[in-house]
Amino acid sequence: MIKLNQKSKKLLLLQRNELLTQKQSWLRKKFGRLLFTNIFIHFFQKKNLELITEELFLREVETFKNFLPVSLKNIMDIGCGLGIININLNKIYKNEPHFFLLDKNKIDKKIKYGFSSNYESYNDLNETRNILFENNIKYSHIHIFDVDKKIEINNKIDLVISLKSMGYHYPLENYLNFLRACSTSRTKFIFDVNSDYFDNKSFMNYFENIKVIYEEKTIHPLKRIYCEGIKF
Ligand SMILES: C[S@@+](CC[C@H](N)C(=O)[O-])C[C@H]1O[C@@H](n2cnc3c(N)ncnc32)[C@H](O)[C@@H]1O
Repeated sequence: MIKLNQKSKKLLLLQRNELLTQKQSWLRKKFGRLLFTNIFIHFFQKKNLELITEELFLREVETFKNFLPVSLKNIMDIGCGLGIININLNKIYKNEPHFFLLDKNKIDKKIKYGFSSNYESYNDLNETRNILFENNIKYSHIHIFDVDKKIEINNKIDLVISLKSMGYHYPLENYLNFLRACSTSRTKFIFDVNSDYFDNKSFMNYFENIKVIYEEKTIHPLKRIYCEGIKF
């Protein structure tokens, strides 16, 4: 079971809409993020959130586990949020990988939905670090970066993931040159794209191979894609 404290549970409910009931989503839309996170959330936090969380992220891994490299050293997660998927990846790769986790480090008050070039942020990178450490990722293997600051990464990354973040809420192009700099021709990419924004033809300018591996047809539909052979 994944260990989460109260603060993380609150953040997770902000990051993962699917953990909210319909009524809770309605309240969030109606009263705004500030009231929702500071007041309402205390009344209806689900007691079994740990279980839901574990199931949720196990289901996520199922969608791409056939596309994971057999072995690797370095994983990058863009828009990692609390980074829970990395706990699963750490288990799969037997505690070996280094994790390079990128996100903003603040919670915007206004709720935005969908896709925009400067998407909102709702994360606390200290929480991310604590959760991963509490859940058996070696402290020295956790490398956290605030994307609002200058980022320097000298390592080459084997697997880049971004769930419901890059390509889904803001354009992949925001990170393209950065990704080129820390990738090799063997780097694999698994990330979600907003189905309305995704254009296979223009993505072919960036990668040799692209495959849609999973789809969600919700109000904000997504395609999860696997890419390899980034073009430099
Ligand atoms: C829907 S949450 C997904 C979080 C996590 N990947 C998951 O699967 O639970 C979107 C995340 O993207 C982050 N984000 C927003 N704009 C970003 C940007 N320009 N660069 C990196 N992360 C960003 C948010 O702070 C938030 O943590």
